[in-house]
Amino acid sequence: MSVNGRIIEKTDDIMQKQFLYIEKIKEIIAEKTAIDKKQSTYDLRVYGCQMNEHDAEKLAGMLEEMGYVKAGEGEPADIVIFETCCVRENAEEKIYGHLGSLKPPTGKSKSIIAITGCMMQQPHVVEKIRKSYTHVDIVFGTHNLHTFPELLYKRLTTGKRVFDIWDAEGDTVEGLPAARADRVKAWVNIVLGCSNFCSYCIVPYVRGRERSRRKEDIISEVEKLAELGYKEITLLGQNVNSYGNDLGMKDGFASLLYALNDINGIERIRFMTSHPKDLSDSLITAMKELPLLCEHLHLPFQSGSTRILKEMNRKYTKEQYLGLIDKVRAAVPDIAFTTDIIVGFPGETEEDFMHTLDVVEKVRFDQAFTFLYSIRTGTRAATLENQVPEDVKKERFGRLLELQNAITNEINLKYEGKSVEVLVEGKSRQNSEMYTGRTRQHKLVNFSCDSDLTGQLVNVEIIKAWPFWLEGKVAK
Ligand code: 5AD
Ligand code: SF4
Repeated sequence: MSVNGRIIEKTDDIMQKQFLYIEKIKEIIAEKTAIDKKQSTYDLRVYGCQMNEHDAEKLAGMLEEMGYVKAGEGEPADIVIFETCCVRENAEEKIYGHLGSLKPPTGKSKSIIAITGCMMQQPHVVEKIRKSYTHVDIVFGTHNLHTFPELLYKRLTTGKRVFDIWDAEGDTVEGLPAARADRVKAWVNIVLGCSNFCSYCIVPYVRGRERSRRKEDIISEVEKLAELGYKEITLLGQNVNSYGNDLGMKDGFASLLYALNDINGIERIRFMTSHPKDLSDSLITAMKELPLLCEHLHLPFQSGSTRILKEMNRKYTKEQYLGLIDKVRAAVPDIAFTTDIIVGFPGETEEDFMHTLDVVEKVRFDQAFTFLYSIRTGTRAATLENQVPEDVKKERFGRLLELQNAITNEINLKYEGKSVEVLVEGKSRQNSEMYTGRTRQHKLVNFSCDSDLTGQLVNVEIIKAWPFWLEGKVAK
Protein backbone atom coordinates (compact mmCIF):
# COMPACT_ATOMS: atom_id res chain seq x y z
CA MET A 1 0.00 0.00 0.00
CA SER A 2 1.05 3.64 -0.26
CA VAL A 3 0.85 6.45 2.27
CA ASN A 4 1.51 10.07 1.21
CA GLY A 5 3.08 8.70 -1.94
CA ARG A 6 5.49 6.47 -0.07
CA ILE A 7 5.40 2.75 -0.50
CA ILE A 8 4.79 0.83 2.70
CA GLU A 9 6.47 -2.52 2.63
CA LYS A 10 5.68 -5.44 4.88
CA THR A 11 6.04 -4.35 8.50
CA ASP A 12 9.12 -6.57 8.99
CA ASP A 13 10.88 -4.62 6.25
CA ILE A 14 9.75 -1.32 7.75
CA MET A 15 11.30 -2.12 11.12
CA GLN A 16 14.37 -3.67 9.52
CA LYS A 17 15.11 -0.29 7.98
CA GLN A 18 14.59 1.50 11.30
CA PHE A 19 16.88 -0.97 13.10
CA LEU A 20 19.65 0.02 10.66
CA TYR A 21 19.20 3.65 11.74
CA ILE A 22 19.21 2.53 15.38
CA GLU A 23 22.59 0.84 14.74
CA LYS A 24 24.01 3.99 13.12
CA ILE A 25 22.84 6.17 16.02
CA LYS A 26 24.31 3.66 18.46
CA GLU A 27 27.76 4.33 16.94
CA ILE A 28 27.28 8.11 17.18
CA ILE A 29 26.13 7.83 20.80
CA ALA A 30 29.01 5.48 21.73
CA GLU A 31 31.52 8.00 20.33
CA LYS A 32 29.84 10.85 22.22
CA THR A 33 29.87 8.82 25.45
CA ALA A 34 33.61 8.17 25.06
CA ILE A 35 34.34 11.89 24.56
CA ASP A 36 31.96 13.28 27.22
CA LYS A 37 32.73 10.46 29.66
CA LYS A 38 29.02 10.30 30.43
CA GLN A 39 26.09 8.40 29.01
CA SER A 40 23.58 10.22 26.77
CA THR A 41 20.22 10.63 28.46
CA TYR A 42 16.58 10.98 27.46
CA ASP A 43 13.57 12.57 29.11
CA LEU A 44 10.10 11.53 27.92
CA ARG A 45 7.20 13.79 28.84
CA VAL A 46 3.90 12.05 28.35
CA TYR A 47 0.46 13.68 28.32
CA GLY A 48 -2.96 12.10 27.92
CA CYS A 49 -4.21 8.54 27.82
CA GLN A 50 -2.78 5.01 28.19
CA MET A 51 -2.36 4.85 24.41
CA ASN A 52 0.19 7.65 24.75
CA GLU A 53 1.82 6.02 27.78
CA HIS A 54 2.31 2.89 25.73
CA ASP A 55 3.59 4.81 22.67
CA ALA A 56 6.09 6.44 25.02
CA GLU A 57 7.26 2.97 26.09
CA LYS A 58 7.96 2.26 22.43
CA LEU A 59 9.93 5.51 22.06
CA ALA A 60 11.86 4.61 25.22
CA GLY A 61 12.50 1.15 23.78
CA MET A 62 14.00 2.63 20.61
CA LEU A 63 16.07 5.17 22.58
CA GLU A 64 17.48 2.48 24.89
CA GLU A 65 18.37 0.34 21.86
CA MET A 66 20.33 3.37 20.58
CA GLY A 67 22.27 3.62 23.85
CA TYR A 68 20.42 6.42 25.61
CA VAL A 69 19.58 5.98 29.29
CA LYS A 70 16.72 7.59 31.18
CA ALA A 71 17.70 10.93 32.75
CA GLY A 72 17.46 11.25 36.53
CA GLU A 73 14.49 13.12 38.00
CA GLY A 74 14.88 16.85 37.27
CA GLU A 75 18.23 16.43 35.48
CA PRO A 76 18.77 18.00 32.03
CA ALA A 77 18.67 15.39 29.25
CA ASP A 78 20.41 15.13 25.86
CA ILE A 79 17.09 14.52 24.19
CA VAL A 80 13.66 15.58 25.43
CA ILE A 81 10.58 14.09 23.74
CA PHE A 82 7.02 15.31 24.18
CA GLU A 83 4.30 12.71 23.62
CA THR A 84 1.34 15.06 23.23
CA CYS A 85 -2.44 14.96 23.69
CA CYS A 86 -5.11 17.19 22.13
CA VAL A 87 -8.33 15.66 23.42
CA ARG A 88 -9.10 18.87 25.35
CA GLU A 89 -7.81 22.42 25.04
CA ASN A 90 -6.23 22.52 28.51
CA ALA A 91 -3.94 19.59 27.58
CA GLU A 92 -2.63 21.56 24.61
CA GLU A 93 -2.10 24.73 26.63
CA LYS A 94 -0.10 22.86 29.23
CA ILE A 95 2.17 21.42 26.54
CA TYR A 96 2.80 24.81 24.90
CA GLY A 97 3.73 26.11 28.36
CA HIS A 98 6.21 23.30 29.04
CA LEU A 99 7.66 23.55 25.54
CA GLY A 100 8.10 27.30 25.92
CA SER A 101 9.95 26.87 29.20
CA LEU A 102 12.65 24.84 27.38
CA LYS A 103 13.44 27.75 25.05
CA PRO A 104 17.10 28.59 25.57
CA PRO A 105 17.90 32.28 26.09
CA THR A 106 20.65 32.40 23.46
CA GLY A 107 18.83 30.88 20.50
CA LYS A 108 20.10 27.33 20.54
CA SER A 109 19.26 24.58 22.95
CA LYS A 110 21.80 22.03 24.16
CA SER A 111 19.14 19.32 24.30
CA ILE A 112 17.55 17.93 21.18
CA ILE A 113 13.82 18.55 21.47
CA ALA A 114 11.40 16.26 19.68
CA ILE A 115 7.62 16.40 19.72
CA THR A 116 5.10 13.81 18.59
CA GLY A 117 1.62 12.50 19.44
CA CYS A 118 -1.93 13.56 18.66
CA MET A 119 -1.34 17.33 18.70
CA MET A 120 1.10 17.01 15.82
CA GLN A 121 -1.58 15.55 13.53
CA GLN A 122 -3.19 19.00 13.43
CA PRO A 123 -1.65 21.18 10.69
CA HIS A 124 -2.26 24.47 12.57
CA VAL A 125 -0.24 23.14 15.53
CA VAL A 126 2.68 22.11 13.31
CA GLU A 127 2.66 25.58 11.73
CA LYS A 128 2.77 27.19 15.18
CA ILE A 129 5.72 24.98 16.21
CA ARG A 130 7.52 25.76 12.95
CA LYS A 131 7.16 29.53 13.38
CA SER A 132 7.05 30.18 17.12
CA TYR A 133 8.94 27.29 18.74
CA THR A 134 12.12 27.30 16.67
CA HIS A 135 14.03 25.46 19.42
CA VAL A 136 12.05 22.29 18.56
CA ASP A 137 14.25 20.02 16.42
CA ILE A 138 12.09 17.06 15.38
CA VAL A 139 8.35 16.98 14.74
CA PHE A 140 6.54 13.76 13.84
CA GLY A 141 3.03 12.36 14.13
CA THR A 142 1.11 9.37 15.45
CA HIS A 143 1.19 7.45 12.16
CA ASN A 144 4.98 7.42 11.84
CA LEU A 145 6.12 6.86 15.42
CA HIS A 146 8.20 3.94 14.16
CA THR A 147 10.27 6.21 11.87
CA PHE A 148 11.70 8.07 14.88
CA PRO A 149 15.19 6.48 14.47
CA GLU A 150 15.40 7.71 10.88
CA LEU A 151 14.30 11.23 11.86
CA LEU A 152 16.71 11.42 14.78
CA TYR A 153 19.54 10.22 12.55
CA LYS A 154 18.73 13.01 10.07
CA ARG A 155 18.80 15.59 12.86
CA LEU A 156 22.07 14.28 14.29
CA THR A 157 23.85 14.18 10.93
CA THR A 158 22.51 17.37 9.27
CA GLY A 159 21.85 19.60 12.29
CA LYS A 160 18.66 20.77 10.55
CA ARG A 161 15.12 20.73 11.87
CA VAL A 162 13.17 17.66 10.76
CA PHE A 163 9.40 17.72 10.14
CA ASP A 164 7.66 14.53 9.05
CA ILE A 165 3.95 14.08 9.62
CA TRP A 166 1.91 11.51 7.71
CA ASP A 167 -1.68 12.49 7.12
CA ALA A 168 -2.94 8.91 6.83
CA GLU A 169 -2.46 5.75 8.81
CA GLY A 170 -0.32 3.01 7.27
CA ASP A 171 -0.26 -0.68 8.13
CA THR A 172 -0.08 -1.54 11.82
CA VAL A 173 3.64 -1.84 12.41
CA GLU A 174 4.83 -4.83 14.45
CA GLY A 175 8.16 -5.41 16.15
CA LEU A 176 8.88 -2.06 17.81
CA PRO A 177 11.03 -2.57 20.89
CA ALA A 178 9.33 -1.33 24.08
CA ALA A 179 10.96 -0.29 27.35
CA ARG A 180 8.00 -0.99 29.60
CA ALA A 181 7.57 1.22 32.64
CA ASP A 182 6.42 -1.66 34.81
CA ARG A 183 7.62 -5.20 35.57
CA VAL A 184 4.29 -6.70 36.68
CA LYS A 185 1.63 -5.28 34.38
CA ALA A 186 1.85 -4.42 30.69
CA TRP A 187 -0.21 -2.61 28.08
CA VAL A 188 -0.94 -4.32 24.79
CA ASN A 189 -2.50 -2.45 21.86
CA ILE A 190 -5.18 -4.42 20.10
CA VAL A 191 -6.94 -1.72 18.06
CA LEU A 192 -5.38 1.49 16.77
CA GLY A 193 -7.41 4.57 15.80
CA CYS A 194 -11.15 5.07 15.96
CA SER A 195 -13.93 5.24 13.36
CA ASN A 196 -16.78 6.32 15.60
CA PHE A 197 -16.69 10.09 15.10
CA CYS A 198 -18.42 11.08 18.31
CA SER A 199 -19.22 14.67 17.40
CA TYR A 200 -17.09 16.26 20.17
CA CYS A 201 -14.00 14.12 19.66
CA ILE A 202 -10.77 14.83 17.79
CA VAL A 203 -9.36 11.29 18.14
CA PRO A 204 -10.54 9.86 14.77
CA TYR A 205 -8.85 12.82 13.03
CA VAL A 206 -5.50 12.46 14.80
CA ARG A 207 -5.23 8.69 15.32
CA GLY A 208 -6.82 7.60 12.04
CA ARG A 209 -9.47 4.97 11.32
CA GLU A 210 -9.84 1.83 13.37
CA ARG A 211 -7.25 -0.88 12.57
CA SER A 212 -7.09 -4.14 14.52
CA ARG A 213 -3.82 -5.94 15.05
CA ARG A 214 -3.73 -9.55 13.90
CA LYS A 215 -4.86 -12.00 16.56
CA GLU A 216 -1.70 -14.09 16.22
CA ASP A 217 0.51 -11.01 16.73
CA ILE A 218 -1.36 -10.12 19.93
CA ILE A 219 -1.20 -13.68 21.25
CA SER A 220 2.51 -13.93 20.56
CA GLU A 221 3.15 -10.58 22.29
CA VAL A 222 1.24 -11.72 25.39
CA GLU A 223 3.06 -15.09 25.39
CA LYS A 224 6.37 -13.21 25.38
CA LEU A 225 5.19 -10.98 28.22
CA ALA A 226 4.20 -14.07 30.23
CA GLU A 227 7.67 -15.55 29.62
CA LEU A 228 9.21 -12.31 30.90
CA GLY A 229 7.21 -12.67 34.11
CA TYR A 230 4.39 -10.17 33.51
CA LYS A 231 1.26 -11.10 35.47
CA GLU A 232 -1.35 -8.64 34.23
CA ILE A 233 -2.12 -7.30 30.78
CA THR A 234 -4.41 -4.44 29.79
CA LEU A 235 -5.67 -4.58 26.23
CA LEU A 236 -5.84 -1.10 24.76
CA GLY A 237 -7.99 0.48 22.08
CA GLN A 238 -10.25 3.53 21.74
CA ASN A 239 -13.01 0.95 21.38
CA VAL A 240 -11.80 -2.59 22.15
CA ASN A 241 -15.34 -3.95 21.70
CA SER A 242 -15.13 -3.63 17.93
CA TYR A 243 -11.82 -5.52 17.76
CA GLY A 244 -11.63 -7.58 14.59
CA ASN A 245 -14.59 -5.98 12.77
CA ASP A 246 -12.24 -4.44 10.21
CA LEU A 247 -10.60 -7.85 9.70
CA GLY A 248 -13.98 -9.47 9.00
CA MET A 249 -14.02 -11.38 12.30
CA LYS A 250 -17.29 -12.15 14.08
CA ASP A 251 -17.22 -11.75 17.86
CA GLY A 252 -13.54 -10.94 17.44
CA PHE A 253 -13.00 -9.41 20.87
CA ALA A 254 -14.60 -12.23 22.84
CA SER A 255 -12.69 -14.84 20.84
CA LEU A 256 -9.42 -12.97 21.49
CA LEU A 257 -10.17 -12.98 25.23
CA TYR A 258 -10.78 -16.75 25.26
CA ALA A 259 -7.43 -17.27 23.52
CA LEU A 260 -5.55 -14.99 25.91
CA ASN A 261 -7.17 -16.58 28.96
CA ASP A 262 -5.30 -19.81 28.14
CA ILE A 263 -1.81 -18.29 28.20
CA ASN A 264 0.21 -19.73 31.07
CA GLY A 265 1.68 -17.28 33.56
CA ILE A 266 -0.77 -14.41 33.04
CA GLU A 267 -2.95 -13.97 36.14
CA ARG A 268 -5.18 -11.08 35.17
CA ILE A 269 -6.59 -9.55 31.99
CA ARG A 270 -8.10 -6.06 31.74
CA PHE A 271 -9.21 -3.98 28.78
CA MET A 272 -10.16 -0.41 27.94
CA THR A 273 -12.06 1.45 26.51
CA SER A 274 -15.46 -0.11 25.78
CA HIS A 275 -18.07 1.67 23.68
CA PRO A 276 -21.58 0.83 24.93
CA LYS A 277 -22.92 0.49 21.37
CA ASP A 278 -20.56 -2.45 20.72
CA LEU A 279 -20.75 -4.21 24.07
CA SER A 280 -21.93 -7.61 22.88
CA ASP A 281 -23.57 -10.55 24.62
CA SER A 282 -20.53 -12.63 23.68
CA LEU A 283 -18.33 -10.22 25.66
CA ILE A 284 -20.65 -10.35 28.68
CA THR A 285 -20.52 -14.17 28.53
CA ALA A 286 -16.72 -14.04 28.34
CA MET A 287 -16.65 -11.77 31.41
CA LYS A 288 -18.78 -14.29 33.28
CA GLU A 289 -16.84 -17.35 32.15
CA LEU A 290 -13.19 -16.36 31.99
CA PRO A 291 -11.40 -16.55 35.34
CA LEU A 292 -8.58 -14.22 34.30
CA LEU A 293 -10.88 -11.33 33.28
CA CYS A 294 -11.05 -8.82 36.12
CA GLU A 295 -14.39 -7.63 37.51
CA HIS A 296 -14.02 -4.10 36.21
CA LEU A 297 -15.58 -2.40 33.22
CA HIS A 298 -14.76 1.11 32.06
CA LEU A 299 -17.87 2.10 30.13
CA PRO A 300 -18.06 5.82 29.24
CA PHE A 301 -21.62 7.13 28.97
CA GLN A 302 -20.69 10.79 28.31
CA SER A 303 -24.21 12.14 28.94
CA GLY A 304 -27.39 10.81 30.53
CA SER A 305 -29.64 12.70 28.13
CA THR A 306 -30.81 10.69 25.13
CA ARG A 307 -31.22 13.94 23.17
CA ILE A 308 -27.60 14.97 23.85
CA LEU A 309 -26.36 11.42 23.16
CA LYS A 310 -27.93 11.70 19.70
CA GLU A 311 -26.16 15.03 19.14
CA MET A 312 -22.94 13.38 20.30
CA ASN A 313 -23.46 10.56 17.74
CA ARG A 314 -23.09 7.94 20.46
CA LYS A 315 -25.76 5.59 19.04
CA TYR A 316 -27.42 4.51 22.30
CA THR A 317 -30.09 5.94 24.61
CA LYS A 318 -30.04 6.49 28.35
CA GLU A 319 -32.32 3.47 28.80
CA GLN A 320 -30.12 1.25 26.61
CA TYR A 321 -27.06 2.23 28.64
CA LEU A 322 -28.82 1.45 31.94
CA GLY A 323 -30.05 -1.83 30.42
CA LEU A 324 -26.46 -2.80 29.57
CA ILE A 325 -25.33 -2.06 33.11
CA ASP A 326 -28.08 -4.33 34.48
CA LYS A 327 -27.14 -7.10 32.07
CA VAL A 328 -23.45 -6.97 32.99
CA ARG A 329 -24.27 -6.84 36.72
CA ALA A 330 -26.57 -9.86 36.40
CA ALA A 331 -23.73 -11.82 34.75
CA VAL A 332 -20.90 -10.53 36.99
CA PRO A 333 -22.44 -9.45 40.32
CA ASP A 334 -19.25 -8.06 41.90
CA ILE A 335 -18.31 -5.91 38.88
CA ALA A 336 -17.00 -2.36 39.41
CA PHE A 337 -17.98 0.22 36.80
CA THR A 338 -16.03 3.32 35.92
CA THR A 339 -16.99 5.89 33.30
CA ASP A 340 -16.26 9.12 31.42
CA ILE A 341 -18.72 12.02 31.51
CA ILE A 342 -18.74 15.29 29.58
CA VAL A 343 -20.45 18.30 31.14
CA GLY A 344 -21.70 21.21 29.03
CA PHE A 345 -21.92 19.72 25.56
CA PRO A 346 -23.49 22.39 23.24
CA GLY A 347 -27.20 22.79 23.94
CA GLU A 348 -27.11 20.89 27.26
CA THR A 349 -30.01 22.15 29.40
CA GLU A 350 -30.51 21.77 33.14
CA GLU A 351 -32.96 18.97 32.34
CA ASP A 352 -30.35 17.16 30.21
CA PHE A 353 -27.84 17.49 33.01
CA MET A 354 -30.32 16.06 35.54
CA HIS A 355 -30.39 12.92 33.38
CA THR A 356 -26.61 12.71 33.74
CA LEU A 357 -26.91 12.94 37.53
CA ASP A 358 -29.68 10.33 37.40
CA VAL A 359 -27.42 7.83 35.58
CA VAL A 360 -24.65 8.45 38.14
CA GLU A 361 -27.10 7.79 40.98
CA LYS A 362 -28.59 4.70 39.39
CA VAL A 363 -25.34 3.01 38.32
CA ARG A 364 -23.20 3.96 41.32
CA PHE A 365 -19.86 4.01 39.52
CA ASP A 366 -16.74 3.25 41.52
CA GLN A 367 -15.10 6.19 39.79
CA ALA A 368 -16.01 8.72 37.09
CA PHE A 369 -13.64 10.76 34.94
CA THR A 370 -15.48 14.03 34.45
CA PHE A 371 -14.65 16.61 31.79
CA LEU A 372 -15.83 20.09 30.90
CA TYR A 373 -16.77 20.09 27.21
CA SER A 374 -13.91 21.59 25.22
CA ILE A 375 -14.30 22.86 21.64
CA ARG A 376 -12.05 20.92 19.25
CA THR A 377 -11.58 22.58 15.86
CA GLY A 378 -12.48 20.23 13.02
CA THR A 379 -15.13 18.28 14.95
CA ARG A 380 -18.84 18.59 14.20
CA ALA A 381 -19.75 19.85 17.69
CA ALA A 382 -17.35 22.79 17.29
CA THR A 383 -19.68 24.22 14.63
CA LEU A 384 -22.72 24.17 16.93
CA GLU A 385 -23.82 27.62 17.99
CA ASN A 386 -25.53 26.94 21.31
CA GLN A 387 -22.35 26.57 23.40
CA VAL A 388 -22.98 26.43 27.16
CA PRO A 389 -21.51 29.41 29.08
CA GLU A 390 -18.37 28.56 31.10
CA ASP A 391 -19.93 29.48 34.47
CA VAL A 392 -22.92 27.18 33.85
CA LYS A 393 -20.60 24.33 32.86
CA LYS A 394 -18.49 24.80 35.97
CA GLU A 395 -21.48 24.97 38.31
CA ARG A 396 -22.84 21.68 36.88
CA PHE A 397 -19.39 20.11 37.02
CA GLY A 398 -19.17 20.92 40.75
CA ARG A 399 -22.51 19.25 41.46
CA LEU A 400 -21.55 16.16 39.49
CA LEU A 401 -18.23 15.86 41.28
CA GLU A 402 -19.86 16.20 44.69
CA LEU A 403 -22.35 13.42 43.91
CA GLN A 404 -19.72 11.07 42.46
CA ASN A 405 -17.27 11.67 45.33
CA ALA A 406 -19.97 10.77 47.84
CA ILE A 407 -20.72 7.53 45.94
CA THR A 408 -17.03 6.60 45.60
CA ASN A 409 -16.63 7.21 49.31
CA GLU A 410 -19.61 5.02 50.22
CA ILE A 411 -18.37 2.19 47.99
CA ASN A 412 -14.86 2.40 49.46
CA LEU A 413 -16.13 2.40 53.06
CA LYS A 414 -17.76 -0.99 52.45
CA TYR A 415 -14.28 -2.46 51.99
CA GLU A 416 -13.24 -1.71 55.57
CA GLY A 417 -12.72 -4.96 57.46
CA LYS A 418 -12.81 -7.05 54.28
CA SER A 419 -10.04 -9.08 52.66
CA VAL A 420 -9.21 -8.42 48.99
CA GLU A 421 -6.89 -10.01 46.42
CA VAL A 422 -4.13 -7.59 45.40
CA LEU A 423 -1.51 -7.98 42.68
CA VAL A 424 1.59 -6.44 44.25
CA GLU A 425 3.22 -3.84 41.97
CA GLY A 426 6.05 -2.73 44.25
CA LYS A 427 6.74 -0.04 46.84
CA SER A 428 4.13 2.69 47.17
CA ARG A 429 5.20 6.05 45.72
CA GLN A 430 3.35 8.05 48.37
CA ASN A 431 4.67 6.08 51.35
CA SER A 432 7.93 4.16 51.06
CA GLU A 433 7.00 2.06 54.13
CA MET A 434 4.15 0.53 52.17
CA TYR A 435 3.62 -1.67 49.13
CA THR A 436 1.07 -0.92 46.45
CA GLY A 437 -1.21 -2.82 44.09
CA ARG A 438 -4.75 -3.10 42.80
CA THR A 439 -7.72 -5.33 43.47
CA ARG A 440 -9.48 -7.16 40.64
CA GLN A 441 -12.00 -4.25 40.72
CA HIS A 442 -9.06 -1.90 40.04
CA LYS A 443 -9.10 -0.32 43.51
CA LEU A 444 -5.76 1.11 44.53
CA VAL A 445 -4.49 -0.47 47.78
CA ASN A 446 -1.46 0.62 49.80
CA PHE A 447 -0.54 -1.86 52.50
CA SER A 448 2.11 -2.85 54.98
CA CYS A 449 3.95 -6.12 54.56
CA ASP A 450 7.15 -7.58 56.09
CA SER A 451 8.57 -8.91 52.83
CA ASP A 452 8.68 -7.80 49.20
CA LEU A 453 5.97 -9.77 47.39
CA THR A 454 6.14 -7.80 44.12
CA GLY A 455 4.52 -9.73 41.27
CA GLN A 456 2.48 -11.96 43.57
CA LEU A 457 -1.22 -12.12 44.34
CA VAL A 458 -1.76 -11.60 48.06
CA ASN A 459 -4.77 -11.22 50.33
CA VAL A 460 -4.88 -7.84 52.01
CA GLU A 461 -7.12 -6.86 54.91
CA ILE A 462 -8.53 -3.37 54.46
CA ILE A 463 -8.10 -1.24 57.57
CA LYS A 464 -9.23 2.14 56.27
CA ALA A 465 -10.88 3.63 53.19
CA TRP A 466 -9.47 6.94 51.93
CA PRO A 467 -11.17 8.96 49.16
CA PHE A 468 -9.00 7.55 46.36
CA TRP A 469 -7.36 4.46 47.86
CA LEU A 470 -7.63 1.76 50.47
CA GLU A 471 -5.19 1.15 53.30
CA GLY A 472 -4.49 -2.39 54.42
CA LYS A 473 -2.16 -5.00 55.83
CA VAL A 474 -1.32 -8.43 54.49
CA ALA A 475 -3.81 -10.95 55.84
CA LYS A 476 -2.14 -13.65 57.94
N1 5AD B 1 -14.33 17.83 25.50
C1 5AD B 1 -14.38 17.24 26.71
N2 5AD B 1 -14.11 15.94 26.92
C2 5AD B 1 -13.80 15.20 25.84
N3 5AD B 1 -13.50 13.89 25.73
C3 5AD B 1 -13.23 13.63 24.42
N4 5AD B 1 -13.36 14.74 23.70
C4 5AD B 1 -13.72 15.74 24.55
C5 5AD B 1 -14.01 17.12 24.39
N5 5AD B 1 -13.97 17.71 23.21
C6 5AD B 1 -13.52 12.97 26.85
C7 5AD B 1 -14.54 11.84 26.66
C8 5AD B 1 -13.68 10.65 26.39
C9 5AD B 1 -12.45 10.98 27.21
C10 5AD B 1 -11.23 10.21 26.88
O1 5AD B 1 -12.25 12.34 26.97
O2 5AD B 1 -15.25 11.68 27.88
O3 5AD B 1 -14.28 9.43 26.77
FE1 SF4 C 1 -13.49 9.69 20.57
FE2 SF4 C 1 -15.88 8.45 20.42
FE3 SF4 C 1 -13.69 7.31 19.31
FE4 SF4 C 1 -13.91 7.43 21.99
S1 SF4 C 1 -15.27 6.30 20.58
S2 SF4 C 1 -12.08 7.96 20.75
S3 SF4 C 1 -14.96 9.40 22.27
S4 SF4 C 1 -14.65 9.24 18.67
